Amino acid sequence: RTLRIGLIPGDGIGKEVIPAGRRILEALPASLGLKFEFINLRAGFETFEQTGAALPDETVAILKSDCDGALFGAVSSPSTAVKGYSSPIVALRKKLDLYANVRPVKSVGGAANPIDMVIVRENTEDLYVKEERTYDTPEGKVAEAIKRISQRASSRIATMAGEIALRRQKIRAAGAPSIHKGPLVTITHKSNVLSQTDGLFRSTARDALAASRFSSVAVEEQIVDSMVYKLFRQPEAYDVIVAPNLYGDILSDGAAALVGSLGLVPSANVGEGFAIGEPCHGSAPDIMGQDIANPIATLRSAALMLEFLNEEEAAALIYAAVDANLEEGKLLSPDLGGKAKTSEVIEDILRRL
Ligand code: NAI
Ligand code: MG
Repeated sequence: RTLRIGLIPGDGIGKEVIPAGRRILEALPASLGLKFEFINLRAGFETFEQTGAALPDETVAILKSDCDGALFGAVSSPSTAVKGYSSPIVALRKKLDLYANVRPVKSVGGAANPIDMVIVRENTEDLYVKEERTYDTPEGKVAEAIKRISQRASSRIATMAGEIALRRQKIRAAGAPSIHKGPLVTITHKSNVLSQTDGLFRSTARDALAASRFSSVAVEEQIVDSMVYKLFRQPEAYDVIVAPNLYGDILSDGAAALVGSLGLVPSANVGEGFAIGEPCHGSAPDIMGQDIANPIATLRSAALMLEFLNEEEAAALIYAAVDANLEEGKLLSPDLGGKAKTSEVIEDILRRL
């Protein structure tokens, strides 16, 4: 099988870590029967300055017509609004209907509080429909935003969470060491206050997970504020967490902090038959150009992309090579307290692969 992969480095350290993603895919053993073709694509702030578009139409068209998946680095966003600029990854998620943002958070072996969870965040609606308005009143300005929750989006995201829980269980059953006993999905919401919007998310997710193929999956609920508390107190209790867009955004960044460095945490933006792997970190202008960015978030994102393209065996090899590097702990980048250069970390992981 040949997979055609779009490479979108973006800005800053995106340009340093995406080549690492390409190299790990190219280094997979030939015995897997997997070949790759890579297509270089542009997006980001630099692209915006050069072409007037942060996400050129050509990039979207090629992803749609010619690619099976993609790796996206990071983009720099100006902190004050720049006319005509908006985030390309947000636009890509919309244009390709990548309705799920999947973020595994896993501690390195031997951690005092072992963590192995996946946060599945709805990616298309909630407050991120960006329908805001501001108006004047005698007491001053008032601003409002629409929080939109649909049955369709809630159902498909909960279904994906269920599928991920089953897949993780399959990997455990195959002998992978695990801190979990069985598949568990935790539905996160605030329906005690927002009974209609979060109420719809909650009941729809419950219904979707009641399907017979999820009969082996335990389902529980957690109000989002108490979810944050438990996430920090008892992170080992969670397997798969499913949440509407805003709560998922916040929970997943918080969970990333539990395992040390942003440089370790991958994500995937997933739709029907398409996945974009994307490290969770940004363009890190403070460390760019020094060959010290941690490439592991990107390597894991490449593996995660492969999982959603049904290449689980290839993904497992990448995860194992990365874990072996971390567990030995000799060639670590500075964000993990080491002295290794990006290039040395990559060489070490490629050798293990
Ligand atoms: P950031 O994630 O770029 O950096 C935060 C801190 O983590 C920095 O100290 C950085 O050096 C460190 N860091 C990040 N990735 C690392 C890696 N792979 N290895 C070692 N250290 C790493 O977030 P920040 O500084 O808030 O934003 C910088 C730019 O990135 C901004 O323009 C922001 O808009 C953009 N950004 C883009 C994202 C994306 O493309 N998805 C996500 C977050 C921020
Ligand atoms: Mg975030």
